[in-house]
Amino acid sequence: MEEERIKSYIIGFDQDLGGGIPKGHVSLLSGTPGTMKSTIGYSMLYHNCVKNNLKCLYLTVEQSGESLAVQMRKLGFDPSNLPKDTFHIVDMGLERESSKYQIIEDVSIPWFERLQRVMSVIQRYKPDLMVLDSLSGLYAMATSENLRNEIYRFFAALRNIKLTSFLISEMSPDKSIYSEFGIEDFLCDGIIHVKMERVDDVNIQRRIRCVKMRGANHRPHFYSLMFSNGEFQVTKVLSEV
Ligand SMILES: Nc1ncnc2c1ncn2[C@@H]1O[C@H](COP(=O)(O)OP(=O)(O)O)[C@@H](O)[C@H]1O
Ligand SMILES: [Mg+2]
Repeated sequence: MEEERIKSYIIGFDQDLGGGIPKGHVSLLSGTPGTMKSTIGYSMLYHNCVKNNLKCLYLTVEQSGESLAVQMRKLGFDPSNLPKDTFHIVDMGLERESSKYQIIEDVSIPWFERLQRVMSVIQRYKPDLMVLDSLSGLYAMATSENLRNEIYRFFAALRNIKLTSFLISEMSPDKSIYSEFGIEDFLCDGIIHVKMERVDDVNIQRRIRCVKMRGANHRPHFYSLMFSNGEFQVTKVLSEV
């Protein structure tokens, strides 16, 4: 039987992945700040919700749920197109009174308990697709001697419930790993990397590439990434044509 795919709805990119991201994968969505990771994650959920009626959960740790919703509306994602009760933004954020699931800044909350809170929100909403924005924010000042095991167990728990998840990961510009500790790079099923590329003295372009995708015969090259009115599109980088 052919594996089911979840489309990214980034025009031109899904073909390269053999139709999309294999269902049930745990993927990192990695890049430095401002590379549109949150917007890409939101766009994937939004289009899958509107077009395929998939249940979607956007877990925000750093930005408030309200500010994210306002930002996304301004970027062209019209919330009135979303079917009722299938798209949820849950705010797990810092010191916000509106947030029922506060987890970060309070460093006394151990990493393990943070993961449990994430899992309990997932169990409550039972989504098909999830974005966690961000995995880096969730770590806060996590120090765990058993981090590899715990990350392994977290990823395994996400796979067990057959959730397709995108974990946003803030990359540091001077490092060549796609995550905070590097362990996640090995443990995840897929990595999508976005970056800014200086093309000449004044122009900067966004680029996207699939670094890794288990079960998909993908191209590892960078594409130029464009965004307009709620839709992403990729084109081949000119030097490659
Ligand atoms: N083509 C575009 N149209 C509108 N806004 C854009 C465009 N390109 C970039 N932006 C802006 O880029 C900012 C960064 O996007 P965001 O998804 O928050 O990045 P990240 O999560 O990687 O830090 C957004 O606030 C958005 O307003
Ligand atoms: Mg962001």
